Amino acid sequence: MSTLTKLALGMMGRLRPKPVRGEALAQIALPAAHKEGGMPLMEALGKRRSTREFAPAELPLPLLSDLLWAACGVNGPDGLRTAPSALDAREVDLYVALPSGAYLYEPDAHVLSLVVSSDIRRVTGYQDFVDDAPLDLILAADIGRMRLAPVAQRESFAAVAAGAISQNVYLFAAANGLAAVIRAWIDREAIAEALGLTHDQHILLSQTVGYPRG
Ligand SMILES: Cc1cc2nc3c(=O)[nH]c(=O)nc-3n(C[C@H](O)[C@H](O)[C@H](O)COP(=O)(O)O)c2cc1C
Repeated sequence: MSTLTKLALGMMGRLRPKPVRGEALAQIALPAAHKEGGMPLMEALGKRRSTREFAPAELPLPLLSDLLWAACGVNGPDGLRTAPSALDAREVDLYVALPSGAYLYEPDAHVLSLVVSSDIRRVTGYQDFVDDAPLDLILAADIGRMRLAPVAQRESFAAVAAGAISQNVYLFAAANGLAAVIRAWIDREAIAEALGLTHDQHILLSQTVGYPRG
């Protein structure tokens, strides 16, 4: 769908998901992530880039597993994660929009739990590539988990935590020859509606990841 069509549908509140392709499993158990090796950090930093042309091929499950662990997986005792969060509130949830449905990444169990059995990729942003790229991540903050943080700072704390997750994804993508782009040009209401989020949950950003086109 073109950006213009998306903008028009968005203005009418009619930017809607599509039926899923394949079966929407209630839970996807992710294989254990590979936590060693890979491209040296300085090399990955040298390659990090925003790219907006994606091949439609889906990411194999082991690669998706590694990507999600890199984003905000558990890497320490008591569920501590690869990305920081103020007061360890862990308020940023990572939703995973796949052709087969929209899932919540649950870092403690390292599983994907089905949220809606629709293909919501095209709802995750106004840019046309989001419809067909194999993976759109949605970063949403649950403000209800931030009761210890000063009210005036909750928004910026959550944005910083989301930025850290997003950079983890960018570096993973760079190290694995994937294309990625973080996106703030999104219809937050449409995404929240598609995911059935509560009032406490604020959509922050989306991020598309996939194989580069060509
Ligand atoms: C908060 C934020 C929001 C962004 N929103 C978008 C967006 O909506 N669409 C997009 O294509 N790129 C978006 N970008 C990516 C920037 O355009 C990109 O980072 C910038 O052009 C620099 O390019 P580089 O990331 O390749 O270094 C965003 C970046 C940030 C940090």
